[in-house]
Amino acid sequence: MNTVEKDNEFSLNVYKRYPLTLVKGKGARLWDDTGKEYIDFYAGHAVCSMGQCHPAVTEAIKKQADEMTFYSNIFYSKPAADLAEKIASTLLPHPYKIYLTNSGSEANEAAVKIARKLSGKKKIISFTNAFHGRSIANIGITGVMSYHKFEPNITSYTSFATLGDMDSVKGLYDEDTAAVICEPIQSIGGMYMADTPFYHDLQAFCRDKGILLIIDEVQTGCGRNGSDVWFSRAIGLHPDIITTAKGIAAGLPLSAVMVASHVADKVEVYDHATTFGGGAIPCIASLAVFNTLTSDGFMKEVDRKSKKIIDGVRAIPGVKNVLGMGLLLGVEFDSDVAWLVKACLDRGLIIGSSSRKTVVRITPPLVITDKDIDAFLEIFTSVISHHDAE
Ligand SMILES: Cc1ncc(COP(=O)(O)O)c(C=O)c1O
Repeated sequence: MNTVEKDNEFSLNVYKRYPLTLVKGKGARLWDDTGKEYIDFYAGHAVCSMGQCHPAVTEAIKKQADEMTFYSNIFYSKPAADLAEKIASTLLPHPYKIYLTNSGSEANEAAVKIARKLSGKKKIISFTNAFHGRSIANIGITGVMSYHKFEPNITSYTSFATLGDMDSVKGLYDEDTAAVICEPIQSIGGMYMADTPFYHDLQAFCRDKGILLIIDEVQTGCGRNGSDVWFSRAIGLHPDIITTAKGIAAGLPLSAVMVASHVADKVEVYDHATTFGGGAIPCIASLAVFNTLTSDGFMKEVDRKSKKIIDGVRAIPGVKNVLGMGLLLGVEFDSDVAWLVKACLDRGLIIGSSSRKTVVRITPPLVITDKDIDAFLEIFTSVISHHDAE
């Protein structure tokens, strides 16, 4: 049996996969088991922020694996403490405390749990078209409504406003509201975002009502927004809680809940916990990621490369608009482009779909090179123009 046959035989059938097996990678290049080469403009759901086998990440993981693998949170861990310190430094001038866990879903669930516990209130205001995770509780606050077929049990406590529309938020508020959770750029939802003043109005409203503002930076965080390590900081926002995951550890399972000190001071021992969260190896990989993100000129380069991609894509005939920011981009067309992801894959280019049929997603590793951007633009243009000519 080859890998595809074996997986189909033995793995639970929850994924719709393309029938290829990636076996090797370097930077933004990947190879499958037939030797075919791919340029990665998707980064495995925006996870591989440092591309494949980044030397600093690989070196750190190897060193840690030789020293000590894992121990649980009953003892202190140097990699976890060093990482918390490093993440906190990226949020200055505002002080935050860091809780390390394993996935975006778990980070959001912890954030909602903290908000409910501290406020003694139950209701959460979320946004239509936002995505927050696949656990039963997170489906409840996810506004991509197709997920609600699983009947999440906190839906009755969640209501959905419209991103960019403050009146819709105000209309949903009542005395039992604990928090607002907001995915600032709705990635899976098709890269919708609001104008910057909306996020400030949202924060001001939450402060005024004494409810917590949770910003889900699972996708926008860890440098992907292109302006700062955090989208919130890039626009001068100071949320009560920020969650992140995806690119945090360059592919190792890790996520973080960043809790502003005025909230963190009220969190108590036994309010929450996890077995794997803050494991030495993911933390050490994550430290290498944050050291790279904060190294001289790195974010400026991400911004420059983002502009190069946006300019290049905007110039392609048939492209209606480029949405999003940094290296979290959506390419919008006038018609359904469900065919485009597969057509690019056939030509050795990996891009992503979205829940909007007219939008594909472009989320390359942050370390993407100019050479790979040029190659991407050539293939992307060619695939679109050949299809239009048919
Ligand atoms: C904005 C956002 N929040 C939360 C999640 C859930 O993260 P995970 O799949 O790691 O649980 C995702 C995953 O795609 C996401 O995009």
